[in-house]
Amino acid sequence: MSATTRATPSAAPSPLQFLDDALVELRRDGLYRSLRILDGEQKAHARFDGREVINLSSNNYLGLTTHPKLRDAALRAVKELGVGSGSVRTIAGTMDLHMALERRIAAFKKTEAAVVFQSGFAANAGTVSAILGKEDLILSDELNHASIIDGARLSRATIKVFPHRDVAALRRLLEETKDVKRRLVITDGVFSMDGDVAPLRDVAAAARDHGAIMMIDDAHSSGVLGRNGRGTVDHFDLHGQVDIQVGTLSKALGVLGGYVCGSKSLIDFLCHRARPFLFSTSHPPAVAAACLAAFDVLEEEPERIERLWTNTKRFKAGLARLGFNTGTSETPITPILVGEADLAMRFSDRVFERGVFAQGIGFPTVAKGKARLRTIVTATHTEAELDQALDVLGSTGRELGIVT
Ligand SMILES: Cc1ncc(COP(=O)(O)O)c(C=O)c1O
Repeated sequence: MSATTRATPSAAPSPLQFLDDALVELRRDGLYRSLRILDGEQKAHARFDGREVINLSSNNYLGLTTHPKLRDAALRAVKELGVGSGSVRTIAGTMDLHMALERRIAAFKKTEAAVVFQSGFAANAGTVSAILGKEDLILSDELNHASIIDGARLSRATIKVFPHRDVAALRRLLEETKDVKRRLVITDGVFSMDGDVAPLRDVAAAARDHGAIMMIDDAHSSGVLGRNGRGTVDHFDLHGQVDIQVGTLSKALGVLGGYVCGSKSLIDFLCHRARPFLFSTSHPPAVAAACLAAFDVLEEEPERIERLWTNTKRFKAGLARLGFNTGTSETPITPILVGEADLAMRFSDRVFERGVFAQGIGFPTVAKGKARLRTIVTATHTEAELDQALDVLGSTGRELGIVT
């Protein structure tokens, strides 16, 4: 795409010219990306843009995107129930499978009830915007996911951002805002670009001490942290102390969707007020069936999570030996911090040419000057693949002067 002025019948400049100008700026700043096209299955070794690569860019933590049980469940659902649900949940689009999935999630997470949304994004944005209004206050970690930020904006509540994982600052804000009747403290469980973990015990205690609602986004903890991948609340043994838990079915669970867990009243309320639940069609039966099968796999094959963590430790140790700065990551999401976006994109492109797919990430996904390669190993990478990826990252990093 180039910055040309579109011809219009009156030869006047296109009213969308500003978009072309913005794209020129993205290119100038090294932030313009073409989509990499996956040819085949989403796996640890995959074919993108016609090239075989070791795939360090997917959220397919446990390799469930191609698990035979999920595949069979989806195929059966297509054969028995067709390909679409045909309606939003509140009209004619609630199937037995949707209800079974919600019961399964609530039991797995040890909460009274659960509701499934079309995506984790919809779960976060739909929940925050439903439960808060313009008299209310949201206290949000500065690195929280975009779906939380969008939900907060939609709610029209006042938003106060606390510095990343800074519980003392959160407590100060809670102290200063005592007079606000309804307050929500919200944090990611695992931060999606840095791979660090929220200090949930202390964050939840701060919320509780000030009578605030506590909500966690466990998108990157679902299937990764806690017993059988039950998430951050289970990891910190905080059952009953977090009012709202969001999770995703789109990452470690290998399929698509998001969910909210909590009290019966919370879920009942969301079924009446969360706009994605009310105004967007529910999952096709194959998605719900595959998600149900994914929970079976979490419980029946715990060795996948063990393998994920073994691989994570091996890969992190290798990056440290090579001298890369991986920030504060404690989970399979391991950023390789580079600084300028342009350098990160060159690094990403060069390792790709050499058979390693590690996506470069720049502004606005991360702050300016904090560009990086974002890597995620999975349970299904072999040791040989990880070692080969480390060789390529190391030699390319040295060539580009990122490490010595
Ligand atoms: C922290 C976090 N929350 C929510 C989401 C949204 O989840 P989904 O992909 O299921 O919409 C993501 C996905 O990128 C995420 O990283």
